[in-house]
Amino acid sequence: MATRPHGPFPADLEAAILELKEERNAVVLAHYYQESEVQDLADFVGDSLALAQAATRVDREVIAFCGVHFMAETAKILNPGRVVVVPDLAAGCSLADGCPPDAFRDFSAQHPDAKVVSYINTSAEIKAQSDLICTSSNAVKMVEYFAGEPIIFAPDRHLARWVEKEANRPDLIAWQATCIVHEQFSAKRLVQLKVKHPDAEVLAHPECDEVVLDEADFIASTKGIIARAVDSPAKTLIIATEDGVFHQIEQQAPDKQLIQAPAMDESCACNQCPYMRLNTLEKLYLCLRDLEPQVTLPEATRCAALVPLEKMLDLSA
Ligand code: 13P
Ligand code: SF4
Repeated sequence: MATRPHGPFPADLEAAILELKEERNAVVLAHYYQESEVQDLADFVGDSLALAQAATRVDREVIAFCGVHFMAETAKILNPGRVVVVPDLAAGCSLADGCPPDAFRDFSAQHPDAKVVSYINTSAEIKAQSDLICTSSNAVKMVEYFAGEPIIFAPDRHLARWVEKEANRPDLIAWQATCIVHEQFSAKRLVQLKVKHPDAEVLAHPECDEVVLDEADFIASTKGIIARAVDSPAKTLIIATEDGVFHQIEQQAPDKQLIQAPAMDESCACNQCPYMRLNTLEKLYLCLRDLEPQVTLPEATRCAALVPLEKMLDLSA
């Protein structure tokens, strides 16, 4: 099997990437969980909803997507005529992996009257089986859209629990996957940290376990967490999400003290998503140079996935 050509890399990698971007007529979209140098080079940085919205406005031939696979796949669903490349095809997501299409079809078949609301952290095959997509920033609103109807909510069980509470829909039929990053936060150690920092505000992502969310002052998507951290009157913030968000907060509010929420295992770098962190500047350079790896998907799946995705975008406009 042919090996993919690698370096040598140009001495000024950032400048070479910017040059290649123009040569390829490419745009770089990045999620907040990317390394800060990747965020700084991107044309647009956002949460899952903002990135999907940005993908509808692309006017370049190539999208280099620095995030995880389901995000780049979403960009491809919306841009069938453009080339979508990623720095590393192995950048997956435990939530997307935790919801296999065949098993999900069997699950849904047990609830034939239910509407299917799927988190954007799913494969295109799951989106194709859904009535509506949601992200962490609009999940409550999307569930409310099907008021009075039975709803299957997939795949994040913690997000489902939070939405049940916020939307007053205790009857969601929830798939039981979890995020390997957000499920690591420890409520017990968070309480101890709050005692040490009584004036701190706790900001958390809704993928965290309920016991962690119960200790939070503010729960939102990554974009919402960044905005709140910047605007909050609190000088000290304890943040229960991937620590890639620190970069934007540090730039916009350099006076704030940012503390990572503690993980159950004191020794691990749990606040970093191992999938997101597979992407590097070197791999971004290579994917722009070689126009690979590309994200592709069967046209029938893409068309079926587009319907609930566009519906979410319309409802979120
Ligand atoms: P956001 O849409 O809040 O950025 O979340 C994406 C994600 O993967 C969180 O783990
Ligand atoms: Fe998936 Fe969790 Fe990584 Fe987000 S942080 S991409 S939900 S594994």
